[in-house]
Amino acid sequence: MNIQPCLARRQRLLDLMHAQGGGVAILPTAPERLRNRDTAYPYRPDSYFHYLSQFDEPDAVLVLIAATATGPAQSLLFCRDKDVEREIWDGHRWGPEAAREAFGFEAAYSIHEFDERLAELLTHQPTLWYSLGHETAWDQRLLRALNKLRQQARSGAQVPARIHDLRQLLDGMRLIKDEDEIAKLRQAATISAAAHRRAMRACRPGLYEYAIEAELLHEFRRQACVAPAYPSIVAGGANACILHYVANDQPLGDGELLLIDAGGEYQGYAGDITRTFPVNGRFTAAQADVYQLVLAAQQAAIDSIRPGASFMAPHEAAVRVLAQGLLDLKLLQGSLDGIIESEAYKRYYMHRTGHWLGRDVHDAGDYKQGEDWLNLQAGMVLTVEPGCYIRAADDIPAAFHDIGVRIEDDALVTAAGCDILTHEAPKTIAAIEALMAAGREQA
Ligand code: GLY
Ligand code: MN
Ligand code: MN
Repeated sequence: MNIQPCLARRQRLLDLMHAQGGGVAILPTAPERLRNRDTAYPYRPDSYFHYLSQFDEPDAVLVLIAATATGPAQSLLFCRDKDVEREIWDGHRWGPEAAREAFGFEAAYSIHEFDERLAELLTHQPTLWYSLGHETAWDQRLLRALNKLRQQARSGAQVPARIHDLRQLLDGMRLIKDEDEIAKLRQAATISAAAHRRAMRACRPGLYEYAIEAELLHEFRRQACVAPAYPSIVAGGANACILHYVANDQPLGDGELLLIDAGGEYQGYAGDITRTFPVNGRFTAAQADVYQLVLAAQQAAIDSIRPGASFMAPHEAAVRVLAQGLLDLKLLQGSLDGIIESEAYKRYYMHRTGHWLGRDVHDAGDYKQGEDWLNLQAGMVLTVEPGCYIRAADDIPAAFHDIGVRIEDDALVTAAGCDILTHEAPKTIAAIEALMAAGREQA
């Protein structure tokens, strides 16, 4: 286990806290959640907590104390005790002693001591860094500790004068990926691309959407992803025009397109890829027209990515190409500037072209600073995912009915422009048709 990246992140966070007046940060991990009666959902630690600790047990809290004039900075962990009996049933628990050593903390304590020690951790601190409102049970615990301190004022206890949102500091850090994160995102992207290739090879008319979903899951799990990074969208025909379609329970028809939006989560990091391809392996002329348009829009968006460009530059580039294409295909009428200005193109393209990607598929980090969209910087990772969704309607030629296309890749901003982490998922018509033909021959 390499704990260096977490040590560096903790140090950086402590430096940021120090620069803003110091104080103590409290960061609990996610609770276990019941799926039914006594069966829990698969456990996933809180993304912020894991970013700073790599510790993946539930019932744990990270406490970071900024350096003061008299004392150095400290990182503390509260976690479950060793429990030989429970470990027979549920597996290994680190326990405070071993966790302190393995994860590089100055001290570690039993989670059972947390409430008791909390008031003492908070007293004489100028600022409490904590994200109120995300887990109300934890909010209550902290508020109780603050009240306890107020009641001890006559004994000299002091309540932090300020409560600052810890996530503001962490969101800024998570926006720029470090080397360790980039390596994991690259691997998530590589595995996700392999899953899409597997789905393309397996696809046949008559199969159900869930059978293709199973191909994705097989590849994710085979390559050590714990789970998909988000519910996979496997949408045949008209279902592709439902942006968050996840039922995945319909048969795939000959002559339809299949839109798959799926990515694996690898060591806490998400892949996020969309590919659209013909169920029978050959694009029709109308499908190819729409597909080439979305591909050209995506290329224009990718070409606009470089340090210093606005976060909105890829969206604006994609919208311009899509709008012109919709005019050329006679799906819209008017002038290019006119349909952009009136947003008439939103009938066919109603979402944004990307989002930050990292531990969370829609990752942490602001998009605006004040009134302005953020500028891209090297080390940011964003998706590039234009689409075109044509629902059946009387004013649209039948050949275009129910064609939904999205093409999505994951881009790392580099000094020179960007690096497409997901390039191993085929996306030209020729490459897709060749892979699908090869898949058929193997069968
Ligand atoms: N798969 C979620 C998204 O593309 O935003
Ligand atoms: Mn996405
Ligand atoms: Mn996606």
